[in-house]
Amino acid sequence: MTVLEDSPFVRACRGLPVPHTPVWFMRQAGRSLPEYRKIRQGVGMLESCRRPDLVTEITLQPVRRHNVDAAIFFSDIVVPVAAAGIDLDIVAGTGPVVAEPVRTEVDLARLRAIEPGDVAFITEAVELLVAELGTTPLIGFAGAPFTLASYLIEGGPSRTYLKTKAMMYGAPDLWNALLARLAEITLTFLKVQVDAGVSAVQLFDSWAGALSEADYRRFVMPHSASVLRGLVDAGVPRIHFGVGTAVLLEAMGEAGADVVGVDWRTPLDVATKRIGPDRSVQGNLDPAILFAGWDTVEREARRVLQQGGSAPGHVFNLGHGVMPETDPDVLTRLTALVHEVSSR
Ligand code: CP3
Repeated sequence: MTVLEDSPFVRACRGLPVPHTPVWFMRQAGRSLPEYRKIRQGVGMLESCRRPDLVTEITLQPVRRHNVDAAIFFSDIVVPVAAAGIDLDIVAGTGPVVAEPVRTEVDLARLRAIEPGDVAFITEAVELLVAELGTTPLIGFAGAPFTLASYLIEGGPSRTYLKTKAMMYGAPDLWNALLARLAEITLTFLKVQVDAGVSAVQLFDSWAGALSEADYRRFVMPHSASVLRGLVDAGVPRIHFGVGTAVLLEAMGEAGADVVGVDWRTPLDVATKRIGPDRSVQGNLDPAILFAGWDTVEREARRVLQQGGSAPGHVFNLGHGVMPETDPDVLTRLTALVHEVSSR
């Protein structure tokens, strides 16, 4: 077992006492860093995800710069879906675009199960990273079945999820078959990362906030739960995150998370009441606050720390990913502030 149990990050995930509140940032390994933009020049996003040398360097960049308490593996949620046979691209400024959307049973046959050998580049990159990172934990991740399905069915990003919801309500058998297949792919993808040495995993259901609680519980939660349940014996903390999930927080915890990620709309003390005393929380500074000047950043970060104190464990993060225009120096300063203010 390679889980770094003594690290502040893993301890906070487990609700154990920590020397300081650990901090990392969703999307820390990305476009806000000039060294990232430089190394990515002329290399497509999917190609860079398949090159262990690049993955290693990009994952390490924010750790060197900000002194964060965890690294997040550089990849994308659609990488396993591409490995499963779906023709797709990640278009700069747009996101994942699927050549032929998955809308029928015949389409579903194009999405096969994956074997660890289909993502051997992931194993190689994680092993390289774990060796380089030493005592800093590496977080593995995957997209949850609903969020992945939304890209496959819509063919790209969506604001309304019309086609996704049309299948969910109108063709529940096909919907359940698609989400079950995605859950299987996601679980294999996460197990590959665990076997190669990550210390925690985060399941991103970024767009689950489009659903009511009743529909989430009926159409989505069983599939996410099967992924999270499949990792019980892996022994790594499981973080479950989505955006706009105020009404889903309780269910997202119940789905089998050790840590529930909370966006900036719900104060962490309110979130903790909903989620209950058995799980830690992660979040939740609004990424836009990083543009408002240091005094505001400091005041809001102190508020987040104070509200996070009501949970058994708190991992400081943003309420969603770092915006590309963010000044990286603000992230460095914020990391130091969180460490200093929470030091005990
Ligand atoms: O630092 C990290 O967070 C690690 C890397 C990471 C990426 N994508 C790299 C990336 C992670 C964890 C993801 C997850 C991801 N990908 C999610 C869930 C997280 C979230 O933000 O809710 C989602 C929904 C995707 C799908 C996706 N891929 C989107 C929405 C985009 C952005 C489109 C854009 O350019 O605005 C991508 C592309 C992507 N993934 C980039 C990066 C660094 C940008 C690609 C580039 O620089 O060309």
